[in-house]
Amino acid sequence: MVHQHDTITPYAQEGKAKKAQVAEMFDNISHRYDFLNHFLSLGIDITWRRKAIRMLRPLKPKVVVDIATGTGDFAIEAARLKPGRIIGLDISEGMLAVGRQKVARRKLSGLIEMVQADSEALPYPDNFCQAVTVGFGVRNFEDLDKGLREIHRILSPGGVCIILEPAVPRRFPTRQLVLFYYKTLLPLFGRLFSKDPRAYSYLPETIQAFPHGPQFLDICQKTGFSQCKWKPLTLGICALYYLEK
Ligand SMILES: C[S@@+](CC[C@H](N)C(=O)[O-])C[C@H]1O[C@@H](n2cnc3c(N)ncnc32)[C@H](O)[C@@H]1O
Repeated sequence: MVHQHDTITPYAQEGKAKKAQVAEMFDNISHRYDFLNHFLSLGIDITWRRKAIRMLRPLKPKVVVDIATGTGDFAIEAARLKPGRIIGLDISEGMLAVGRQKVARRKLSGLIEMVQADSEALPYPDNFCQAVTVGFGVRNFEDLDKGLREIHRILSPGGVCIILEPAVPRRFPTRQLVLFYYKTLLPLFGRLFSKDPRAYSYLPETIQAFPHGPQFLDICQKTGFSQCKWKPLTLGICALYYLEK
């Protein structure tokens, strides 16, 4: 099934597929991504990833795959679980290059591999890992259902996937405040600080079009996941999804 956000592309005027455009956009912003990410979220994104990783502790995963790892923040956080192997996977070589430097600075290169690959065709066998994380990535997939099916395939039975996605709260006045932030402030900051301002107008467009909360859980269930739960974080500006195979 094609979802509304699947069809939103960063550079509407280009003839390229969404996947190629998304990779190009993240290559363009990779050097500023960490600064803008933490600045625009006032650093709260760090606490969301930490919370997600804490939920994986009882699972004691041996292999963790962080899909759409970008500059590797989720993969680095997953090191707290002390698994034997962590893979950070992304289509943008620019983001991965910044991530590899961060991993090396933290002396985690022996544990974390940063791999260029497509989330919709994962280069791993069935039942490969016990945990998958995706931070602010699924919204960018060209085909959401295909990406979710691939995550389900590589998880071993009983394995868990945790997904973080920005959300739009439902209640007044947080909803109005968040929409003002996404529609006005975010594109303004993007124009001021980023070489690719389109990235910061693409972001709110996809956030608003994404099927949040129960709608997303429904899609995950149809993909084969069980025990699907979600939790709004920080007044509903972020959603944490917990899915089991
Ligand atoms: C907003 S960044 C998130 C980075 C990181 N997970 C974090 O928590 O900050 C989204 C990432 O998804 C990646 N991405 C988008 N589509 C992808 C795909 N089909 N396969 C792999 N990575 C993808 C982009 O290249 C980008 O690095």
